[in-house]
Amino acid sequence: MKVTVKANANIALTKYWGKKDAALKTPWNSSTSVTLEGLETTTTVDFDKQYKKDIFILDGKECAEETDEYKEVKEQLDIIRKKAKMNLKAKVVSKNDFPTAAGFASSASGLAALTFGAAKAAGLNLSVEELSKISRMGSGSASRSLIDGFAIWHKGERADGEDSFAEQIAPKEFWPEFRILGCVISKKAKKIKSRAGMAQSVKTSPIFKQWYEHAEIDAQKMVELIKKKDFVALGELAQHNCILMHACAMTTLPPIIYWAPGSLEVMHRVLELQDEGVKCYFTLDGGPQVKIICLEKDVPKIKEEIKKLEGVHEIIECKPGLGPREVKGHLF
Ligand code: PMV
Repeated sequence: MKVTVKANANIALTKYWGKKDAALKTPWNSSTSVTLEGLETTTTVDFDKQYKKDIFILDGKECAEETDEYKEVKEQLDIIRKKAKMNLKAKVVSKNDFPTAAGFASSASGLAALTFGAAKAAGLNLSVEELSKISRMGSGSASRSLIDGFAIWHKGERADGEDSFAEQIAPKEFWPEFRILGCVISKKAKKIKSRAGMAQSVKTSPIFKQWYEHAEIDAQKMVELIKKKDFVALGELAQHNCILMHACAMTTLPPIIYWAPGSLEVMHRVLELQDEGVKCYFTLDGGPQVKIICLEKDVPKIKEEIKKLEGVHEIIECKPGLGPREVKGHLF
């Protein structure tokens, strides 16, 4: 069956950086996020006997079998095939409406869309919890893109990883004024993928233990701040947690420095705006793009200021978004 779905990226409000179990892909700490309307992947999946091997086309380009992208897709399809007890090969066509692999969480929306679409195309009727666990296998942050609105990905306690999945804290309607301004600093793909980078941090960063212990406390605090809609405390916590994650990445051997000059330019301007009384906070994932956390009423002022910075190519405004959904209109 051929199925087309859309899924959104998410931004971690408190991050995950490091896997505890490499096979089960469970994290050292829980993390929280908001799924974003405006950063979207569309994916069509077709399982059919006409395909002699899996085919993966991303943003118009066919991925060769030896590429990481192809392997990730195949691994995910294998999990779905095993669950559905079938062995048909698939054609997967996917497109992002934002820069791929440069810290705009394309892996999150991509893997969430693929998992949701492939499960449907294989005739499986799985719960969000189950889909979140399967997405986790492809990309940790994808487990959170299964959720509409605000999410927590529980690190879980069980040895089999069955309690490590994302759950909703609040739906997107809960906080419609919440905004993320995605500042595009560089459209180039990043050099160090999160999967390899975080594995190296687990092994070599001398602050890894401090990082994940603190991040677990932050994730639990973040849940309460979201429920209370305490925007200032949320922004301050998100910003601090981001700096701590990057400190852990930077103290890895060899160092992982995702911040580009343009990122620092935005970060400094955000700090100045805070001093001027504007409620805005920065956060960055595994790439140079800076995401500014703010409320709708402050968007015009913040945009006006950030646009003036040389290193910023574009600003993408995002609201809290939906989880994956099936749509009409296949990509092939
Ligand atoms: O989704 P992964 O496994 O590629 O890791 C992404 C990790 C960060 O984006 C840097 C942080 C996070 O929690 O999303």
